Amino acid sequence: MTAFSDAAAEDYDGRIARMAPGYTLALELVTALARCRFPEDARVLLAGSGTGTELLALAAAGPGWRFTAVEPSPAMMASARGKIAAAGLDHRVTFVEAMLDEAPPEPHDAAVSALVLHFIPDDGAKAGFMAALAARLAPRAPLLLTDFAAFDLPDGCYDRWLLDRGVEAEVVARAADWRRRVWQPVTPERVRGLAASAGFEDVRPFFQALGFHGLLASRADA
Ligand SMILES: C[S@@+](CC[C@H](N)C(=O)[O-])C[C@H]1O[C@@H](n2cnc3c(N)ncnc32)[C@H](O)[C@@H]1O
Repeated sequence: MTAFSDAAAEDYDGRIARMAPGYTLALELVTALARCRFPEDARVLLAGSGTGTELLALAAAGPGWRFTAVEPSPAMMASARGKIAAAGLDHRVTFVEAMLDEAPPEPHDAAVSALVLHFIPDDGAKAGFMAALAARLAPRAPLLLTDFAAFDLPDGCYDRWLLDRGVEAEVVARAADWRRRVWQPVTPERVRGLAASAGFEDVRPFFQALGFHGLLASRADA
């Protein structure tokens, strides 16, 4: 089960921006690429929409877009619902509290999945997640995916980056333990292979900060 717990949802927004290299830049790039690639009236699938950070950014960037926000964690979704209600955007968002493969298989014109894939084991479940994305997209629809992958980087460089930006040693140690226990990263080549096997083509990288990376792909023609 890869849904976030209530504890993981607590303080998520502040924590992720501090701990994920390039989180804000990646979100800006996802938003810019969405503006380049998504149709003006797109039905956009957000897979693992979390506390609603990309939902809010995308809703502001594409006033004609409507969203299906799929998220299995009640605590993460409650936070997103609060933000969307406060922004007066309820009429543009359908919330689905479920794992992606349990969400209704309705077609969308575009999809975004930010920082979800590396929590899913590569035992058929990652392939299942990518297939569930493809199954909910129209032919040629764009996908923006960010993930933490096993790039060939020097040992300890992530911890070094955190310490150098002032994150307390105890927090860095806890984060390293969480990564070892919970994350399921695969090589960037494997991520591209999973995307291709699920029926995505034109898989192109647009971002990398340490292990965090972003890909733009298109659902293949039917
Ligand atoms: C690190 S958070 C990312 C949240 C948000 N996209 C962001 O970038 O801030 C990962 C989220 O994916 C959700 N998740 C995990 N497995 C999922 C699945 N199979 N389908 C949909 N969401 C999933 C978790 O509950 C969690 O809220």
